[in-house]
Amino acid sequence: MRNASLQERKNAATPRGVGVMCDFYAERAEGAELWDVEGQRYIDFAAGIAVLNTGHRHPKLIAAIEAQLKAFTHTAYQIVPYESYVSLAEQINARAPIEGPAKTAFFTTGAEAVENAVKIARAATGRTGLIAFSGGFHGRTMMGMALTGKVVPYKVGFGPFPGEVYHAPFPNAAHGVSVEDAIDAVQTLFKADIDPARVAAIILEPVQGEGGFNVAPPAFMQALREICDTHGILLIADEVQTGFARTGSLFAMEQYPVKADLITMAKSLAGGMPLSGVVGRKAIMDAPAPGGLGGTYAGNPLAVASALAVLEVIDEEKLCERSKALGDKLIAFLNARRDAVPQIADARGLGSMVAVEFNDAAGKPDAAFAKKVQQHALANGLLLLTCGTYGNVIRFLYPLTISDALFDEALAVLDAALKQ
Ligand SMILES: Cc1ncc(COP(=O)(O)O)c(C=O)c1O
Repeated sequence: MRNASLQERKNAATPRGVGVMCDFYAERAEGAELWDVEGQRYIDFAAGIAVLNTGHRHPKLIAAIEAQLKAFTHTAYQIVPYESYVSLAEQINARAPIEGPAKTAFFTTGAEAVENAVKIARAATGRTGLIAFSGGFHGRTMMGMALTGKVVPYKVGFGPFPGEVYHAPFPNAAHGVSVEDAIDAVQTLFKADIDPARVAAIILEPVQGEGGFNVAPPAFMQALREICDTHGILLIADEVQTGFARTGSLFAMEQYPVKADLITMAKSLAGGMPLSGVVGRKAIMDAPAPGGLGGTYAGNPLAVASALAVLEVIDEEKLCERSKALGDKLIAFLNARRDAVPQIADARGLGSMVAVEFNDAAGKPDAAFAKKVQQHALANGLLLLTCGTYGNVIRFLYPLTISDALFDEALAVLDAALKQ
C-alpha cells in the first residue's frame, strides 16, 4: 500500500469537511513513535490531539483492554451495568477537584461530555443561559459549536445554533486582553444581553486548547467563581484537553485557588479508546431525571478498562511530575532560541501543555512561519500541530511517557525547523 494511492481513494470516498492534516497513512505506532504504510517513522508530538498522554499501545492499557475483550465488549451500561464503570466513577469522584461529594457519568466523546454538562447545569438551575469565551473550543455538536468561540472553520455554514449562548473575551496578555477587561465584558453581558438570574453556567477551558494554549490566570478563575456565587451560576471547567496529567496535575483545576461545579473530561482519560465523562457536585449531578443521561455506547467496557489502566499508569510512572519536568525543559528550550528566532513572540504553558507563538517583524501574527516550522519538522519526522485564533501557534502534545532520548531527538528536529 502506498500513501499516494490511499490519498486518491480517500479523496474519492470521504468528504473534504473531514479535513486531514497528513498525506501519509498510519500502519503502526508504539510509545511516542508512529510508522506510515511506506515505513517512514515519525516522532508523534500530536498524540492523536492530546489523547495519548500514556503513549501509543501502553502495555498496561493493552493488557486491560485484552482482558475485557475476553469477558464482554458491550452490554449497554443502562441495560446491564458492570463493576468497572462504577469503580472508575468512584476513582474520578475521589480525585477530581470538586467541593464535597461528587458523582460521575460517562459518555463517548468530548463534545458529548460538554452537551451533558450543559444539560445537567440547566436541569440543576432551571435556567437556560450560557456564557463561554472567545477562542474557546467545545466540540462539533450543535451546542458544542454554539459554545465554541471561533467561527472559521468550526461554525461556517452550520447555524442557527442553540440560543442563549453569549461570549466574552478570554484574557490574553499577548493580545492585550487583561483579566479586568474579560471580567468587565462578562459584567457588560449582564447589562446588555442577559439577566444573570437566567444564566445556568459559565464554561471555560482552564487552558484553551484549539484557541492557542492560553492559560486562564488564577485571578480570572477566582473572579468567575465570585460572579457564579453571587448570581447562583454554575462554573463548568472543560478539561477535555487539559486533563489526565497533561498540565502537571490530574486535572488542571487542581492548580487553581477555586473549584468548578462540573468538570468535563475525555481525550487522555482512556488513552486512545473513546470515553468521556462529567464529574460534578453530587446534588447537581443528580438533577436530571432517570433516563435523561446516557447513550448506547456511553461508558463502553473496553474504554472503561483502558481508563482504569490510565489512572494506574499516571500514578506508577509519576506522569504529573514528568509532565512538569518536560514542560519546563521545552519552555526553556524555546526561550533560549528567542535571539536566533525573532519570530518567537511567546513561549507559554502549564505543565506539558506548551505552545510557541510566532509574530512577524511588525508584531502581527505569523501563521505562515508556524506552517513552515510545522512542515519542516514533518519532513524530518516530527509531527507537530498548530492552533490559535490566528493559526500562528505551534502546540506540543507529546506522550508524557516519552523517553529522554526521543524527546531530545525531537527537540533537535524542532531546532532545525525553527532556524530554517
Ligand atoms: C476543550 C475541548 N472540549 C471539547 C472538545 C471536543 O471533543 P471531541 O472532539 O472528543 O468531541 C475538544 C476537542 O478538541 C476540546 O479540546
